Amino acid sequence: MRVALEINGDDYARDVEPDLTLLSFLRDVLGLTGTKWGCLTGDCGACTVLVDGKPVVSCLQLACQAQGREVTTVEGLETPGGLDEVQAAFVSNGATQCGFCTPGMVMSVEALLRTNPSPNEAEIREALAGNLCRCTGYSKIVDAVLQAAAERRSAVGSPAADVS
Ligand code: FES
Ligand code: FES
Repeated sequence: MRVALEINGDDYARDVEPDLTLLSFLRDVLGLTGTKWGCLTGDCGACTVLVDGKPVVSCLQLACQAQGREVTTVEGLETPGGLDEVQAAFVSNGATQCGFCTPGMVMSVEALLRTNPSPNEAEIREALAGNLCRCTGYSKIVDAVLQAAAERRSAVGSPAADVS
C-alpha cells in the first residue's frame, strides 16, 4: 500500500507492507536512524517521534497509520546553527551517557515544551515517564529540561517557570 506523509518538513511517498511499523519505515526505508530501536513493545520510549506534534512510540504505530500526518524525528530538530535548545542542554548538562535513550527523551521534551513552556520538575518527570534511561539516573536530564525551557522562554520573552 502507498503511504504519503510529511517528515521533518519534507514530503515522502512510498509503497509499504501493511504491517510495517513507523519505526522501521523511518529507519530502514528512509535511513532516518536517529530514532532508536529498543524494546519494540512500547515500554522504553527510545523510538519516540512526534506525529502531528504529539509524542508517539513509533514501534507500536504502523507506517500506514501516519498517512497524511506530519512526523518529526530527532533529525528534524536541528537548527541552522546546529542543535536546538533541548539537544544542546542535554549535551551541556551531561544528560546523555550511552545516548541510546536520548533521541526519544528529546522528542518527549519537545512535545512537553510546545504545550507547557514552563514545566516544573514534577511535570518534567511525568512527561518523561515513558522514556527509560539505564545510565543517567534522570537528575541531569531534568536539569537539562529546566535549562532548555528557560532558554527557550528567554528567546521568546515568555513568563518564568513555576518552580513550586
Ligand atoms: S522501541 Fe518503541 S517503546 Fe521501546
Ligand atoms: S544515556 Fe544510556 S540509556 Fe539513557
